[in-house]
Amino acid sequence: MHTYILGIESSCDDTSAAVLQNNFLLSNEIASQKVHERFGGVVPELASRAHQQNIIPVVEAAISHANIDKKQLSAVAFTRGPGLPGSLMVGVSFAKAFAWALGIPLIDVDHMHAHIMANFLRVPGETRSMPEFPFLCLIVSGGHTQIAIVRNPLEREIIGNTIDDAAGETFDKAAKIMSLPYPGGPVIDKLAQSGNPSAFRFAKPRIADLNFSFSGLKTSILYFLRDELKKDEQFIEKNTADLCASIQKTIIDILVDKTEKAVNGTGIRTLALAGGVSANSVLRAAMRQLADKHKLDLHIPKLSYTTDNAAMIAMAGYFRYQKGLFAGLDAAPYATGVKV
Ligand code: KG4
Ligand code: ZN
Repeated sequence: MHTYILGIESSCDDTSAAVLQNNFLLSNEIASQKVHERFGGVVPELASRAHQQNIIPVVEAAISHANIDKKQLSAVAFTRGPGLPGSLMVGVSFAKAFAWALGIPLIDVDHMHAHIMANFLRVPGETRSMPEFPFLCLIVSGGHTQIAIVRNPLEREIIGNTIDDAAGETFDKAAKIMSLPYPGGPVIDKLAQSGNPSAFRFAKPRIADLNFSFSGLKTSILYFLRDELKKDEQFIEKNTADLCASIQKTIIDILVDKTEKAVNGTGIRTLALAGGVSANSVLRAAMRQLADKHKLDLHIPKLSYTTDNAAMIAMAGYFRYQKGLFAGLDAAPYATGVKV
C-alpha cells in the first residue's frame, strides 16, 4: 500500500500544495503572490489575504495533478514555522480542518528543516542519488543563513548562523537600494551575468567561527552608492550589471568561505545546499568548485525546489510519518525558529 502525503506551505508569500507518493513527488503547485512587487518586499497583511484566496484552488490542483482522490491521502503535512504569523495561520488552519475532515493524521514541519529535505525529492522514475548522513548543509534563504550538520532525516545541528541579516535579505535589500524589483536575488543573478564581479570591492565581515554577518555589507553598499550618486546621479543606471556582479560575488564569497571552513573543521565529505538563494547560478557554480577541490559528494536541489514550495514540506512530512510523529489538532504556528 502506498503512503500519500499532502504538503501545505504558506510561511511567506508563496501558497503551495504538493502530493508525495511514498518518497516520490506526484505534484507541486505554487501560487506566487505578485501583489508585493510594487512595495519592494512582502506586506504581511496582503500575504495572509492572498493565502486565503489561493489555498483551496492550489490544494485542489495538487490533488488533481497527482491523479489521486483525496480519500487516498494518508496524512497532511504543514509548515508550522518559522514564518509570518498571519500567513502560517492560513496553512495551519486549512491543514487541521482538512486532516480532521478526512480523519487522517496531521504532521507539523519546520520550514528550514524542509528546505534541507528538498535534497531528497525525486519524481517517479528519477534515480538521482540522495545525500548520505551525516552531511553538511548550507541553508540560505530570505530569512536564514545557516550551516548545519544533518544527522538523520529528523535532526540537524546548527553549527553556524547569521548574527544579523540573511543572505537572501542582503540580495533583496541591495536590489531595493538600486531600485530593482522584489525579490532582488533572481534579478541580481540575471543582471550580474553581463557584469564584472571585480569592478567594485565591498569589505567582507570578520566574524568568528562559522557565523555570518551581512548588515555591514548592506551598509557599505548603501554608503558607497550614496557617495557615487553625489558625483553622478546616473551612477547606478550606468553600472547596474557591474554593481550586481560585484555585490553578488561578495555575498557568495562569504558563503563559500564559511562552508569551506565547516568542511575542514568537521571532516564531513557530503555537502548539500538548500533555500531560495541556492537558486543562484554563481553560488551553485562556486559550490561545485569547492566540491571538486575537496572531493566532496555535493547535492544541490533542482531549481524548482530551492525557493519556497510544498514538495519539501511533504518530503519532511513523509520522514516524520514513518516515525509516527504526528501533531495534535491544537498545534499553533511559531513565528521564529525552533531547534528540531
Ligand atoms: O527560501 P525562500 O524562497 O524563502 C524563505 O524561506 O525566505 O528564499 C527567498 C530568498 C529571497 O531573498 C530571494 O531574493 C532569494 O531567495 N533568491 C535568490 C535567487 N532566487 C531566489 N537569491 C539569489 N539568487 C537567486 N537566483
Ligand atoms: Zn523558505
